[in-house]
Amino acid sequence: MKILFIGDIVGEPGRRAVTELLPRLRRQNEIDVVIANGENSAGGSGITPKTAEEIFAAGVDIITSGDHLWDQKEVITLLQNEPRFLRPLNYPQGTPGRGSLVHQLSSQAPIAVMNIQGRTFMPDLENPFTFARNEVERLRQKTNIIFVDMHAEATSEKIAIARMLDGQVSAVIGTHTHVQTADEQIFPGGTAFLCDAGFTGPHESVIGREIEPVVKRFLTLQPQRFAVAENRIILQGVIVDVDEMTGHAKSIVRVSQPLAADAK
Ligand SMILES: [Fe+2]
Ligand SMILES: [Fe+2]
Repeated sequence: MKILFIGDIVGEPGRRAVTELLPRLRRQNEIDVVIANGENSAGGSGITPKTAEEIFAAGVDIITSGDHLWDQKEVITLLQNEPRFLRPLNYPQGTPGRGSLVHQLSSQAPIAVMNIQGRTFMPDLENPFTFARNEVERLRQKTNIIFVDMHAEATSEKIAIARMLDGQVSAVIGTHTHVQTADEQIFPGGTAFLCDAGFTGPHESVIGREIEPVVKRFLTLQPQRFAVAENRIILQGVIVDVDEMTGHAKSIVRVSQPLAADAK
């Protein structure tokens, strides 16, 4: 089973990249299922039913999120009504929405997807390690193909959770930093890992935002409006091929594809 995961989709440029590039990526790589992190899809901050719909219409099957979850108040509609949308799992019991799902593909084994958030240099959620361990145990009753979006800042936290889950899940892919790392590998137990998938959107920027106001904020320490940048749009992510019998990863390949019309 070939899984394409798309790193954080940032604003309109990110959504456009997915709409324009995904059909060919899907075809050329014989992708079976597409998962995308959509936490920055609405103007760079949060997600709305409208931006989620655009991402689903482009061919994405499941959308994950992260610390920008609550930035748009309409997200509550997604949390309550959209079964293909995930929030980080490690919120307190009773939080709207869900942190994992099982997706049934027409002719193949079901795939479980889990979204979890780190705590180092991040808002303080419940312990991602205990939550992940317990949820994986539960999901493995249903399928051994499990994909994890680990939304976190610290590389050590992402590596540690992936090492803890090695052999129990098919892949642990990091998101949140918006910088694609070059450490893709398959651990001894069969779990594919990449510290960060990068982001999908304008790369002539500071992680998706206009450069000048971000620099000005660092210089002056005064608040600035951070508009989504416009140029050098790239779709970033990763393709993981999973053995359906064992749930172990067979290969992991990074994706970083420029939007042709925008290539400079
Ligand atoms: Fe984030
Ligand atoms: Fe993000």
